[in-house]
Amino acid sequence: MTDQMTTQLTQEIRIAASKRRTFAIISHPDAGKTTLTEKLLLYSGMLRTAGMVGARKDRKSATSDWMEMEQERGISITASAMQFPYKDAVINVLDTPGHQDFCEDTYRTLTAADSAIMVIDAAKGVETQTRKLFEVCRLRQIPVLTLINKMDLPGRTPLDLMTEVEEVLGIQASPINWPIGSGREFMGVVNRETRQVLLFTKTAKAGAAKPELETLALDDPSLKSRVPAYIWEELEHDLELLEVAGNPFSKEEFQNGKVTPVFFGSALTNFGVETFFDAFVDMAPHPHARVADLPDGDEQMIEPAEVPFSAYVFKLQANMNPRHRDSTAFMRVCSGKFDRDMVVKHHRTKSDVRLSRPHSMVAKERNTVDVAYPGDVIGIINTGAFQIGDTISLTEGFNYKPLPQFQPEVFARVRPKDTTMRKSFDKGIEQLAKEGAIQIMRSLDGLEFFVGAVGRLQFDVLEFRLESEYRVKSIVDMLPYESSAWLVGDVETFKPPSDALVVKDSQNRAVVLFRSAWSKNFARERNPEHDFNDMG
Ligand code: G4P
Repeated sequence: MTDQMTTQLTQEIRIAASKRRTFAIISHPDAGKTTLTEKLLLYSGMLRTAGMVGARKDRKSATSDWMEMEQERGISITASAMQFPYKDAVINVLDTPGHQDFCEDTYRTLTAADSAIMVIDAAKGVETQTRKLFEVCRLRQIPVLTLINKMDLPGRTPLDLMTEVEEVLGIQASPINWPIGSGREFMGVVNRETRQVLLFTKTAKAGAAKPELETLALDDPSLKSRVPAYIWEELEHDLELLEVAGNPFSKEEFQNGKVTPVFFGSALTNFGVETFFDAFVDMAPHPHARVADLPDGDEQMIEPAEVPFSAYVFKLQANMNPRHRDSTAFMRVCSGKFDRDMVVKHHRTKSDVRLSRPHSMVAKERNTVDVAYPGDVIGIINTGAFQIGDTISLTEGFNYKPLPQFQPEVFARVRPKDTTMRKSFDKGIEQLAKEGAIQIMRSLDGLEFFVGAVGRLQFDVLEFRLESEYRVKSIVDMLPYESSAWLVGDVETFKPPSDALVVKDSQNRAVVLFRSAWSKNFARERNPEHDFNDMG
């Protein structure tokens, strides 16, 4: 390539990367993640009316019946990573499976995101799954924008919710807009900086199409006659209070994960949604340099536009059809430009691999990818070459950081029904552990063997796949533990609570399984010399 061509390519990548917003939506089930995604598609012009509701209902039916589970997974495959244009930006939204699907993938996917949108139900506040996902964002320093959703329903006061975000999540919350009224009287939002008011008009088909909006200045005299007096008074009071006691917003602090900008809205009725998306595109970072390990132990920042194509595998999605043992490897492009059929270096196996049949998702359609840029996600059919965390690139010489492992929260003793099938059983379990769906643990004497997973559904998947792919029927006995943590300190001197269990993970690290948060606290108090880690 001539110098001029190289400069042109670098420029092309720089422009493409600057338009990318690669993010995940984190929330507790039912807070409105699906509805918000649907609205993002509506506002980007990908859907003419918001109407994926039927699919949502199917997906939600909590069942472990395999056929339905497959269907359910079909939908979550569809949503693994969707790409579409939104105004001048290119959106890559990564799905973080929730509900029963909650698993390590949910956490790992966050490593591929440059930012996250946290959706909170205004009536429920910060819930457990949101808290866990937020914790991963904090540890990875992923900037988080907050949308307080369902403002059209009776909920808690905005001030109360702000306090909860700050106290429960330990991050400064800075409201960018503030709601005018709530529940049936949710009429609009005020932008605190521009002091502009956005008034919504309810339409008969609220939700299916964009709402009618009116923009007024906060000091517009007509406002007082349109907003009921008690709502106006409350608004003035809150705004004054925020002026004095509210956290200031700075883009830098947000991008460093120190402050979360907060917005209020209602995804179902579309109120406040477009303003939120616009602000998101404006504030959220585009793909930035990622740290990679060099063979000599040093680190290197891999700049998206400066280094030829490189990517890493963050998720493997097994093919649920037992006749095809392949899976899809989802890779995040970190640098350079990807061209279809490119031959790349696979660092772990030290081999060359052709990236053929790459695909991405646009709304519900699977599309072949011809080119991709930093921030994009491509799915490649994997016949065994790829493992989670693998780095691939045009040039060798570096590896992206290994993906963190997360402590399981559900545990079981798993054994083959027919003991003569032990060999196939072990092979199957090992393969599934390699894919990252489950973690294998052993008792300290090495005789007993346990399986841990982040979500309950993984055990159904495990049973099914052992039978369909390895012809082994298995028995799964669930254990009463509800959390686990790596033990930091000497296992010999550790005094576990009587209801806890100390085991070893696949790398021989000591892991403590707890029955309750109380038990974990007790262990902490009893062992001041030791500590616990939830992520490794
Ligand atoms: P999730 O993906 O986070 O699990 O949540 P999802 O979007 O599926 O929303 C959960 C329920 O909350 C849905 O109702 C959805 O319509 C409703 N919802 C989402 N955002 C809002 C909002 O801003 N206001 C109101 N009032 N409701 C909202 P559902 O009855 O479970 O399903 P459906 O009958 O609406 O499909």
